Amino acid sequence: MAPRSELLHLGYDVDENAVRFSNYFHVLRELVHLSSGWLALVPEFEAKYRLGDHIHDDARAVSRVRRRLYELRHPSDYPGSPGGGLTGLLDLMNEAGSPSTYLAIAYGEAKPALLRAMRTQLERLDPVSDEPSLRLLKKLVERQERHLVEMSVVGGGWSVEGDIGTLPIDLKAEPRKLCLLTPLDEPARDEFVEVTADGDPYLARELYVNDPDLNHVPVEPEEQRHFFHGLMDAELCAAELMARNSHEHREMPWDFHVDMARQTWDEVRHARLHHLLMPEALGCRWGDYPVGFSYFKSVYKHDLLGRLALFNSTSEQKAMWRHSRRRKVLVERGQQKVAQVFDYLLADEVPHVHNGARWGAYLCGGDDAAYRAKVRELRSGLDETGAPVSPPPASPATRARTR
Ligand SMILES: [Fe+2]
Ligand SMILES: [Fe+2]
Repeated sequence: MAPRSELLHLGYDVDENAVRFSNYFHVLRELVHLSSGWLALVPEFEAKYRLGDHIHDDARAVSRVRRRLYELRHPSDYPGSPGGGLTGLLDLMNEAGSPSTYLAIAYGEAKPALLRAMRTQLERLDPVSDEPSLRLLKKLVERQERHLVEMSVVGGGWSVEGDIGTLPIDLKAEPRKLCLLTPLDEPARDEFVEVTADGDPYLARELYVNDPDLNHVPVEPEEQRHFFHGLMDAELCAAELMARNSHEHREMPWDFHVDMARQTWDEVRHARLHHLLMPEALGCRWGDYPVGFSYFKSVYKHDLLGRLALFNSTSEQKAMWRHSRRRKVLVERGQQKVAQVFDYLLADEVPHVHNGARWGAYLCGGDDAAYRAKVRELRSGLDETGAPVSPPPASPATRARTR
């Protein structure tokens, strides 16, 4: 079939096109970086969940934009350094002093500006010579539109105007340095959730040991209510830890940030699963029991290598056995719905454990054996539930906070 007649309308030239993608790159990269920093401090579960999902979308967008830059500026994917016009917007995002201000700027100014520029480009680009940009931008626009609907934050009146795609980029300047938020004291939870030093005292250590003779699978309604409530909080802590790993380690390769973004999304999605399961199948709700951050703090205080060894390569690795056992016991008892939750948690845990091995070895100069030695060394300081044994000694309740 002969191609139907089309008008040739050459839109942007290659340089203009690359400048546009460079501007998008800088906005998206800083959104990933700053959202990863603020995630733990956003109290509302719904907003925390959305943010975790959008971090992952935006991290993948950065990878694709970078690839398009490589194609346009072959053989370099260097996005240059943002010029004065764009640094105004980026600095505004960095100056936010609270999670609500950050969300207002990110979702009320930065993302709308990004969306405006991408839509403008879609209208003007040539759909034949620049079809790769057309296809990419269609996807990116659709995602940004979804983000704005889902977060529904009203801008704070900073009024970033115009087409940010046209702002100048300095290709000879050094890369822009990302700013860090102060280290976390502890994560934030919805105001109706009680946070205590010991968390939920109902949760017993037998729920968290890997010994088949000692491990207890929660099967009764009351213990399942407490267990899944604690599990939802543990999933949030996992997301917050991964997001902070990304935010606090800007020196790591971009693939590391994509892996952390994916895990952040998986963990907030797991929390959402428990958030739905509790009222529907168990008769309880988020906020019915207290939560505690002693385990989170025991991991967060380590450097990146220690966090990966303790969390991904120990806590998550050992949780795989427990999830598998829980699923089996619950299937035998006819609790299919609850059992299926563990089936998916188990499947997602495999790449999370791999994140530990991949990036732990990277931090050890590519030496897998050195990383395994580090994992063994840190595990020797844990009790059979995975909680640190000294100092200070953990009370039974503070041990019960993992998965
Ligand atoms: Fe999880
Ligand atoms: Fe996980």
